Amino acid sequence: MRSHYCGELTASDVDQQITLCGWVHRRRDHGGVIFLDLRDREGIVQVVFDPDLEASFALADSCRNEFVVQVKGLVRARPAGTENPDMPTGAVEVLGQEFDILNKSETPPFQLDEHQSVGEDVRLKYRYVDLRRPEMAAKLKLRSKVSTFIRNFLDQNGFLDIETPILTRATPEGARDYLVPSRTHKGHFFALPQSPQLFKQLLMVAGMDRYYQIAKCFRDEDLRADRQPEFTQIDIETSFMDEGQIMALTEKMVVELFKSQINVDLDAFPTMPYSEAMETYGSDKPDLRIPLQLVTVSDLMKDVDFKVFSGPANDDNGRVAGLKVPNGGSLTRKQIDTYTKFVSIYGARGLAYIKVNDASDLEAGLQSPIVKFLPLEVRAALLERLEAKNGDLIFFGADTEKVVNEALGALRCKLGEDLELMTCEWAPLWVVDFPMFEATSDGGITAIHHPFTAPSCTPEELEASPLTGLSRAYDMVLNGTELGGGSIRIHQQEMQTKVFELLNIGAEEQQDKFGFLLDALKFGCPPHGGLAFGLDRLVMLMTGSNSIREVIAFPKTQSAACAMTQAPSIVATKQLRELNIKLREKIATD
Ligand code: AMO
Ligand code: AMP
Repeated sequence: MRSHYCGELTASDVDQQITLCGWVHRRRDHGGVIFLDLRDREGIVQVVFDPDLEASFALADSCRNEFVVQVKGLVRARPAGTENPDMPTGAVEVLGQEFDILNKSETPPFQLDEHQSVGEDVRLKYRYVDLRRPEMAAKLKLRSKVSTFIRNFLDQNGFLDIETPILTRATPEGARDYLVPSRTHKGHFFALPQSPQLFKQLLMVAGMDRYYQIAKCFRDEDLRADRQPEFTQIDIETSFMDEGQIMALTEKMVVELFKSQINVDLDAFPTMPYSEAMETYGSDKPDLRIPLQLVTVSDLMKDVDFKVFSGPANDDNGRVAGLKVPNGGSLTRKQIDTYTKFVSIYGARGLAYIKVNDASDLEAGLQSPIVKFLPLEVRAALLERLEAKNGDLIFFGADTEKVVNEALGALRCKLGEDLELMTCEWAPLWVVDFPMFEATSDGGITAIHHPFTAPSCTPEELEASPLTGLSRAYDMVLNGTELGGGSIRIHQQEMQTKVFELLNIGAEEQQDKFGFLLDALKFGCPPHGGLAFGLDRLVMLMTGSNSIREVIAFPKTQSAACAMTQAPSIVATKQLRELNIKLREKIATD
């Protein structure tokens, strides 16, 4: 039906007879001449209709936005002075000779260039209209190119693309499972995979050596801009490679991906221990584009006459830290109040600060609601440790280590954005040496990565001090987003059993939930490891989008529903009966 895409016409097509199909983007009537901007996946071109061709002219005149049409015509250079350098096709136009309306359209729920004035719920309800916007089409095109690049790269490096089940058992990645009731096994449920983790490990036991899959994963967890209940991983597993080799290979893949697809040169990725990331940036995914750093000052605050500081300073789980904002002295009271409110989201009960007006005058040169509590020698030591100069401002957080890290870590990123402190466009890194476990609020411990991650210490050392033992896990971080994470796995049954025990998973539960894995570890499991990237996050960063919803064709809303199909939905009683399911509460149906 068509000879060319609208968006691909250039000066080299001048004088060609062509056929286009597409949507009417805009129709303009200029003193008896009709201009139609015709749009398809590849872009927009201007089509002109002269009144001499009566039939086509009348049809073109009757067109409205989003009608689907076919145009036959002649490509010609735009008259001098009417070229549009902002449009890729702006040097040419098409003289419309034959015209056919293939389908009409009602007035769309929003004009494509007015998407910003409608709520995201409307955009998602009419996603097929939203995706017609050239900006959205460009994002999906890049996503497709990224997948193709990754497939080619991994294929060339000897990886096999192997599918793993969607109807499976729970795979613990720290979220709630989506469950699917079984009709044939009444009262039993499948879980949708939170990741293909266990299957890819079993593929290593099976000798597949190098596996990858662009895999759908499902996690019922609180949603954020970079989290969806259903998302896509580039999932990778290898045998007989250590962490250095896996990191080098996947770093090469990401570097070549950025260069080939968006012409970005990423520098070699630095490696940072988890402890340093938390200490200096308050986060295990530090945004290294922002030069601000957290500085611990607990030791200086142990004896001050200010409980808010001396309390956490004398508590093993507490932390007092400063965050210096160079030239931050110009922040107004109102701005500081806004930041105080901001950190309260993270549980901070206040945000003390010192404005350094004159560092040489420790009595009158420091402007602050708390400086009166600090002896002169503490003031001097603070300025020295934070290397504060006249005009700087220092924020303070004092609380449990967790609250201080989260609050000041987030404040650091917010200040970086608000005050435009970014020192570069792209800042990748590897975070390594994660602890194996962390304490839970109910006094137990939980795996930081997942329970199949190998420790870098012996089982005895791990048992002696579970919370300080480190793991062989690694995360790739880019601009403050965790792009991917992985680890070397446990490949010996004794170690896996020990880790389950430490996680308080008893022998019976181990057999019930992971018996198949423990069995497999007995039958010649090779040393293995891997990682998984979030494809949605990768494409979000590469397209400069502010949410992964922008790079997923049909994403879920913030409340984990589909605005278009209205899923999830109520099902017929008959269906529930077949599944042997009775609802605890009757759900009102309209
Ligand atoms: P992890 O849980 O770290 O590791 O997930 C790997 C990557 O997947 C992405 N991701 C998400 N993206 C969008 N929405 C979500 N809800 C979501 N959750 C995770 C992130 C993350 O870095 N099996 C292990 C990997 C391994 O050890 O090989 C795993 O799933 O970019
Ligand atoms: P207050 O004694 O509550 O009036 O607090 C004095 C100053 O300390 C104010 O600037 C508060 O914002 C700040 N502040 C209070 N609690 C904390 C805290 N946990 N961490 C950092 N600053 C705090």
